[in-house]
Amino acid sequence: MKLAVVGGGSTYTPELIDGFARLRDTLPVEELVLVDPAADRLELVGGLARRIFAKQGHPGAISWTGDLDAGVDGADAVLLQLRVGGQAARNQDETWPLECGCVGQETTGAGGLAKALRTVPVVLDIAERVRRRNPDAWIVDFTNPVGIVTRALLTAGHRAVGLCNVAIGFQRKFARLLGVAPGEVTLEHVGLNHLTWERAVRVGGEDVLPGLLAEHGEAIAEDLRMPRTLVDRLGVVPSYYLRYYYQHDAVVRELRTKPSRAAEVAAIERELLERYGDPALDEKPELLSRRGGAFYSEAAVDLTSSLLGDTGEVRIVNTLNGGTLPFLPDDAVIEVPAAVTAQGAKPLPVRPLEPLFAGLVANVTAYEHLALEAALKGGRERVFQALLSHPLIGQIAYAEKLTDDLIAHNREHLAWA
Ligand code: G6P
Ligand code: MN
Repeated sequence: MKLAVVGGGSTYTPELIDGFARLRDTLPVEELVLVDPAADRLELVGGLARRIFAKQGHPGAISWTGDLDAGVDGADAVLLQLRVGGQAARNQDETWPLECGCVGQETTGAGGLAKALRTVPVVLDIAERVRRRNPDAWIVDFTNPVGIVTRALLTAGHRAVGLCNVAIGFQRKFARLLGVAPGEVTLEHVGLNHLTWERAVRVGGEDVLPGLLAEHGEAIAEDLRMPRTLVDRLGVVPSYYLRYYYQHDAVVRELRTKPSRAAEVAAIERELLERYGDPALDEKPELLSRRGGAFYSEAAVDLTSSLLGDTGEVRIVNTLNGGTLPFLPDDAVIEVPAAVTAQGAKPLPVRPLEPLFAGLVANVTAYEHLALEAALKGGRERVFQALLSHPLIGQIAYAEKLTDDLIAHNREHLAWA
């Protein structure tokens, strides 16, 4: 089995490699190619990747290249984890929206739209080149904004599934609190990428969420940085991205007082890369846990093994709605449990979604549709419409200014601007 990781020079990669090494019975990787335009990073990350495999006795061969076509040639699956414009572009996304009193975030709101506009054309080009070389390869997309990028891939007819680590993070956390193995916990996880709720937490078929909230509500809410009363009143566990909606103005005030997450991450990355260069290092360093990608490798291994092994196992992924949430278009991309086979990810049936959640899901789905239109076709008016439709923006004056700011800050990445 050959895998390629595009964006393989990411500081996240050792997390992935560590997972491949530990879980080699689930996913027997024989050949792994890291593809990245940044040669200096590739050397550092690739060298550490080899040492991690060697230490754990993994027989797989690891190589790296800047040549995408050569790297993906013959791959059974291609993982996408790239970031167009790097942390510098993310820093912009997290900064200029704040001037309007709107949240500045890498996937939510105007910053997320900027990221989508930069990313969709690049990802589609990569996917097209993958398909030309290897029409049967699966694309596993971890590249944000995952909902919009996956919708772009599926609309273009690619064999793709979108992946995020929010669900597996909850599964692991709840398992720990309940004192059971993670595999015993199934989540009734519903919504869109970075806009989800855990409506039930099942162990042995029984919904243990009410008891979990009664006993550990404080710890769960604290982790989400939301008030306990909110979680209790919703009766479900929102993902921490719902903070940007439920507490929007408070979050904006907080963000204005501190350096951006991109700046924080850039500092962590500098230190990580320095450590990766140490030939004595042969495991993922503790410092990597200060990045947000916990359990990404487990999720990626599980999903890829289900796709390539045609297992039908249930994984929480981003895939076509296809009537699952009947109030959304069939071609919307939703994040739900799905049966994963060699034909792709097919959502399991979902109980009707309560209006409290359905309204936001419908609104953000419409925004994602308009965002994709803007990413594919370009043009100031399409950007404006996407921003005007977003529930966190919604007013003409803000949408006008944010449109201008978005274009001004991203001109070098937008072919049409
Ligand atoms: C979580 C999200 C990812 C996001 C990451 C950011 O893992 O699910 O989609 O990219 O956090 O982490 P960072 O360390 O870059 O802030
Ligand atoms: Mn995510």
